[in-house]
Amino acid sequence: MCGIVGILGKNPVAPLLVDALKRLEYRGYDSAGIATLENGQLIRLRAEGKLVSLKNKLTKRSLHGTIGIGHTRWATHGAPIKRNAHPHMTEKLAIVHNGIIENFLELRTALQHKGYILETDTDTEVIAYLITDTLYTGKTPLEAVQYSLSRLKGAFTFALMFAGEEDLLIAARRGPPLAVGYGEGEMYLGSDATAFASFTNKVSYLEDGDLAVLTRNSVTLFDENAKQVRRHKKKSAGGILLISKGNYRHFMQKEMFEQPESVSHTLARYLDCARSVLRPQKVDWSAVTRLSFASCGTAYYSTLIAKYWFESLAGLTVENDVASEFRYRNPPLSAGTLPLFVSQSGETADTLASLRYCKKKGMKTGAIVNAVESSIMREADIVFPTLAGPEISVASTKTFTSQLAVLASLAVAAGKTRGVIDKKREDALIGALIEIPRYISEVLKLEPSIESLCREFLRANHMLYIGRGTSYPIALEGALKLKELSYLHAEGYAAGELKHGPIALIDEKIPIIVIAPYDHWFEKTVSNVREAAARGGRIVLITDKRGAVATALIAQATIMMPEVPDIVAPIVYAIPVQLIAYHTAVLLGTDVDQPRNLAKSVTVE
Ligand code: M6R
Repeated sequence: MCGIVGILGKNPVAPLLVDALKRLEYRGYDSAGIATLENGQLIRLRAEGKLVSLKNKLTKRSLHGTIGIGHTRWATHGAPIKRNAHPHMTEKLAIVHNGIIENFLELRTALQHKGYILETDTDTEVIAYLITDTLYTGKTPLEAVQYSLSRLKGAFTFALMFAGEEDLLIAARRGPPLAVGYGEGEMYLGSDATAFASFTNKVSYLEDGDLAVLTRNSVTLFDENAKQVRRHKKKSAGGILLISKGNYRHFMQKEMFEQPESVSHTLARYLDCARSVLRPQKVDWSAVTRLSFASCGTAYYSTLIAKYWFESLAGLTVENDVASEFRYRNPPLSAGTLPLFVSQSGETADTLASLRYCKKKGMKTGAIVNAVESSIMREADIVFPTLAGPEISVASTKTFTSQLAVLASLAVAAGKTRGVIDKKREDALIGALIEIPRYISEVLKLEPSIESLCREFLRANHMLYIGRGTSYPIALEGALKLKELSYLHAEGYAAGELKHGPIALIDEKIPIIVIAPYDHWFEKTVSNVREAAARGGRIVLITDKRGAVATALIAQATIMMPEVPDIVAPIVYAIPVQLIAYHTAVLLGTDVDQPRNLAKSVTVE
């Protein structure tokens, strides 16, 4: 995740900005930069790679300004090179930004038509020029930001500093968190309170939609309707806690809401999103004849979805195993097989042992891993990083959607190399993948309605999740999430299997969550839903507009999803099942981030 900091100080702020950025390092980043004002002039320093490179630059060129902003960038739009590093600047302002501007291409084109020359691949620069353009019409910085906000779509947060304004920082939150720190004649901004923990522990968190105007002696906050508001000021534990939840209630909630950005970051590694093309591959897919996946838990479900993709898009035979079974089965491994291991932690004992089994058999192994420098990452021959950033909550959320983003991108690449999909289909699939962050942002807005729906699950003893095709593993994942977080009993089934046993469980007390995008499995799923409804089951349908119309009479509740292309449906439909598990658990009062008996990294058999 990108990290934002801002300081209105009494002394030169450059070293303090670097210190604050250091405290945000845990979020992951690939370049960094700071900007200050000297005699009203904007000056910045940026560097690729770790903060030490930026620090080295500072030893050669000291900055004296007492106001500044800083950023650690986790690339989403454009490569992690200096040109794309923040702060971005125009004649009038400097900006640091976290999140995604969904309509940036459209705005970029409009700005270029007005004669602005945009030099980076980022969506951030578009915000900078949009506000600058408005400033040229004579508006004040606050008016220009308010006006520009109304034209931006997406989930994002930014902080701004203006040329000639030595006592002004403006920040806005439309998604990722932002904290304000209160000092004595000094003020701070940070992606979380950890950033400024060594300067102050008085903090307030912006609510979603807030805009903050900071001077050294005041903080004025406005809500999304531009109404002046107050936000609770509290003492932060940022000095003790290295990673903070911001104003989310749990890490899990924070991580669910990070998904538009985390998936975007993942996709940027595998696709050149600006040109809508695949990036070069580490695997020669024409030499692969069979894929053999071994993983555990949620990671295993990601491979079940991948099976549909690799079979249909690349014509590859795919085998899926839970790693605890694979490692003791003595599975034969033919030439042409690529064993692939998916793991968030990269330390799961069974997955690691399965990888070592394959290596011992002389196989070349691949791994899709999140934790950098983990054992699986170090030992696999080919590594596909998921790049979802640190995940603290025991429940996998953002790492699951990033695993899926990697797997989908690889399946398209395999299909292309193996000549199974033509250029037109490849373009359509890539176009669909690029849209995932936008769909996820849209679905996250359903949180309040999903929360109220969850109240009725509290009376249930059991719940069923069903789906067909790529929605079947999402049903399994939904049931797993509910079990692990709320301790309610839940099972996931292929909808077609209902009548082969589980239908006996159905009575009027059992909620049945149906994962049913309007895809080519939809009609079949609906037939199974009718069978369940006829036996009194309480049907909760997760579908889109067309699906809802077709099932109006059988569903007691519907979670209305955006219409999405088939390939992205499992990634987007993962969000409501995460939200259901989360809110049911919160309502039941369980320990959401650290459910009983579970560990984030399972290093024992
Ligand atoms: O670290 P890994 O991805 O290898 O972990 C595998 C499972 O333990 C994990 O996916 C687990 O099922 C999830 N934390 C559940 O939310």
